[in-house]
Amino acid sequence: MTRKKIVILGTGGTIAGTAAHASDNLGYTAAQVGIDQLVAGLPTVAGQACEWISEQVAQIDSKDMDFGVWRVLAQRVDHWLTQPDVQGIVITHGTDTLEETAWFLQTVLEPDRPVVLTCAMRPATALAPDGPQNMLDAVAVASHGGAHGVVAVCAGVIHSARDVQKVHTYRLDAFSSADAGPIGYVEEGSLRLMRDWPRDSVDKAPSAIKNIADLPDPASWPRVEIVMSHAGAGAGGVRALVADGVQGLVVAGTGNGTLHHALEAALLQAQASGVRVVRATRCLEGRVLPKHGDVIPHSQGLSPVKARVALMLALMDAA
Ligand code: SIN
Repeated sequence: MTRKKIVILGTGGTIAGTAAHASDNLGYTAAQVGIDQLVAGLPTVAGQACEWISEQVAQIDSKDMDFGVWRVLAQRVDHWLTQPDVQGIVITHGTDTLEETAWFLQTVLEPDRPVVLTCAMRPATALAPDGPQNMLDAVAVASHGGAHGVVAVCAGVIHSARDVQKVHTYRLDAFSSADAGPIGYVEEGSLRLMRDWPRDSVDKAPSAIKNIADLPDPASWPRVEIVMSHAGAGAGGVRALVADGVQGLVVAGTGNGTLHHALEAALLQAQASGVRVVRATRCLEGRVLPKHGDVIPHSQGLSPVKARVALMLALMDAA
């Protein structure tokens, strides 16, 4: 069967933001414009074979992303992917936590079709908003026959969920895939691919969450926090978190995941008491390379925020 529907799910963000003045790219309120209006503003591409369906899943500034929205979003994506005539899905999202949502969706859904997160660095009311072009580029990726998996599209660049990271506070091209490099580029509606689409086999979802419809109540999702190693780091933060019932800790270590000795002692104590601890790096590029004698496991190349998602899902699976 020919797949011909593109579903566009809105979750808010700057792409749906408004400011009082067209010249104001900073003093805006995110998540104001509905997804139907954003879609209505897009030019119809001549000869386009796809029908677009839009749905508002949430309307938030993505700094406030939470498990409740993730659960609903995963369920809506799952719902649409069960329809054989859906070619792909576009999700409009704030830039600030886009990489976490992308990783969450990739892990729990492992989609066989493209699920494309897109965003904007300027509000919809800007003199030259970047959102409409990003949406068109995302639709081009979602329509691409060979595409699959969760990806992000911003400023004409296609990033995998595993590699994408927001690296700039202001520039329109705010994302990077670091060492891996982008999957490809969108150029006037055509894709120029630099590498393969994400492989399903690499990042397997924990088995207990394979049934998306039965994702547990967000209030019961495991509590995993991130701590950072730095000059003068101490034990107090970790001890307080353990006393408060944290179930998992991701530490953003220095360099190759090294830890201040005082912080390390507290983390080892936490680990010994049953808290799951994972070591990532605060470096933007590279990954923690394991070495003989490591007691705290490394994050398998995941950044601290994605390692947190992975650990949360692993704990959910183990529960
Ligand atoms: C947000 O993340 O929702 C606001 C910032 C942005 O989209 O750039």
